[in-house]
Amino acid sequence: MSGSRTTLNDLAAADQLAAAATVAAQAPSIHNTQPWRWHIRTRSADLYLDASRQLRATDPDRRLAMLSCGTALHHAQVALAAAGTPAEVQLLPQPDDPLYLAKIIVTENARPMPNAQRLRDAIGIRHTDRRPPKRQPMPATVMPLLQATAANHLSGLQPLDRGQVLELAAAISRAQADETSDAATRDELNTWTGTDRQSGMGIPDANIPTGPTSTTAPTRDFGHVGTLPVNDQNDDAATYAILYGYADDPRAWLRAGQALSDIWLAATTMNIALLPLSAAVETPHTRQLVNSLLTDIGYVQIALRLAIPDPAQGDAPRTPRLPATDTIERA
Ligand SMILES: Cc1cc2nc3c(=O)[nH]c(=O)nc-3n(C[C@H](O)[C@H](O)[C@H](O)COP(=O)(O)O)c2cc1C
Repeated sequence: MSGSRTTLNDLAAADQLAAAATVAAQAPSIHNTQPWRWHIRTRSADLYLDASRQLRATDPDRRLAMLSCGTALHHAQVALAAAGTPAEVQLLPQPDDPLYLAKIIVTENARPMPNAQRLRDAIGIRHTDRRPPKRQPMPATVMPLLQATAANHLSGLQPLDRGQVLELAAAISRAQADETSDAATRDELNTWTGTDRQSGMGIPDANIPTGPTSTTAPTRDFGHVGTLPVNDQNDDAATYAILYGYADDPRAWLRAGQALSDIWLAATTMNIALLPLSAAVETPHTRQLVNSLLTDIGYVQIALRLAIPDPAQGDAPRTPRLPATDTIERA
C-alpha cells in the first residue's frame, strides 16, 4: 500500500519537474541560444549546459551561457514553487563536471518562495524590449525592491548616475567596435540573429529594430537592421544599473543568472521593461572598465536598462523556442 503511494508520489514529482523544465524554456538567454539541457529523474532534475549552443567567439568563458542557464534554473524554481512542489537546489553538484550546473531536488524541507504565483504569471509576459521606453522615470520604490531581490541571490544591483552611464556607454561602444572588427564574432551574430528563426533559436528580425534607437548607452549592434518599428524618442528617463556578484567564477555566474531572472520577473510584475546589455562584459578590457564603476567590492555580471515601457508601441513580438524534446530528457 505504502509502496504504491510512493510510486504515485514519485511519478507526480517527476511530472512536476518535467513541467517546470518546460516552463523554464521561456527563460531569456544570450542571443536566444537556450544553452540548457534537463535530465528529469524520479525526484530530482539535473540541469546541464549544452556546449553545442555556446557562443564560442562572443562568450569564450561561457559566462553568458552560465547566466542564461541560471535564468532557466530560477524559472524552473518559480514554476515548482507556484505548483506547490517544495524543492531545493544544489549548484555545481559535481565539481569535476563543469557542464553539470545544478540539481533540483523535491523535498518537503524546502523553504517556500514568497510571490511564487505572481512571478509564475510574469514568466508568460516577460520579454526583451529593445524599443525606446516612456519618457518618465520609474517610481522610486522600484530600485530598492530589485536590490533586495538581487541580495537574495548573493548578488548586488547598483544604479548608475549620469556620469557613470556615460562611462558604461563608452565601454559598450568600445566592446562593440572590437566585436564587429572580429570576423568570428560577426559570423556568430549572423548565425544567431535575423530572418524568421524557424529553427526555434536565435533572435528573429521581428525583434530587431528597423534602425538605431536613441539611447544613452548603445544597445546591441546586430550588424543589420530588423523589422521592429521604433520611434526616435530618447531613453533619458531610463535607469541603467549593474548586476554584480561577489566572485567571478561559474558559481557566481549561475547565481547572477538566477538573480537576473528574479529581477526581470519582479520588474515585469511592476510594469518595468528590462533590457540586458551584455556587451559590457564581453571583453576583459570592458569588464575591467565597468568593474571600476562599482562602489562595492564586486564583479560585474551584466549591465541592465530599466524603464517604463511606452504603451503607445503595443506588445513586442515574442521570440521562438526550441521544442521541449530538444532540451528535456526523461529517465
Ligand atoms: C545573459 C543574457 C545576455 C543578454 N544580452 C543582451 C544584449 O546585450 N542585448 C540585447 O538586446 N538582448 C540581450 N539579451 C536578451 C536576449 O536576446 C533575449 O533574452 C532572447 O533573445 C530571448 O528573447 P526574450 O527575452 O524576449 O524571451 C540577453 C539575455 C541574457 C539572458
